[in-house]
Amino acid sequence: MMKRFVLVLSLTLATGAHAETVADVWKAKCAMCHGADGKAQTKMGQKASIGDMSRPDWQKARADAELREVIAEGAPRNRMMKPFKDKLTPAQIDALVGYIRTFKAPSGP
Ligand code: HEC
Repeated sequence: MMKRFVLVLSLTLATGAHAETVADVWKAKCAMCHGADGKAQTKMGQKASIGDMSRPDWQKARADAELREVIAEGAPRNRMMKPFKDKLTPAQIDALVGYIRTFKAPSGP
């Protein structure tokens, strides 16, 4: 009886994972290096001198297509940034590009 309840509960949780928001994906798969706020104030971020995604110049220098490419294929100049095309759907990758755009500091250049 109890076992059955646990099974149903874990199925519910597993299904729930599909309703993951882009913020959840960022937190689970990206924030450990890029930081929750994209500023890369993390151990890994410092080690690899990952760029600060909240900087307007960082944002301006990169087209959506370039961000999409790095997320899908990895960063050619830094293998720590792995390709995510087998782990994320194209829709999730698009959503992450949009999410990265929200890191831009609101207070101008
Ligand atoms: C293990 C650490 C790590 C994880 C996890 C990681 N990244 Fe990266 N990411 C890097 C590094 C290192 C770079 C290369 C930085 C550079 O070249 O300046 C990078 C580069 C990028 C770039 C290109 C930055 C640029 O300067 O053009 C994007 C976009 C990006 N990551 C998005 C993501 C997303 C989205 C995720 C999660 C799905 C993610 N990363 C997960 C380490 C990581």
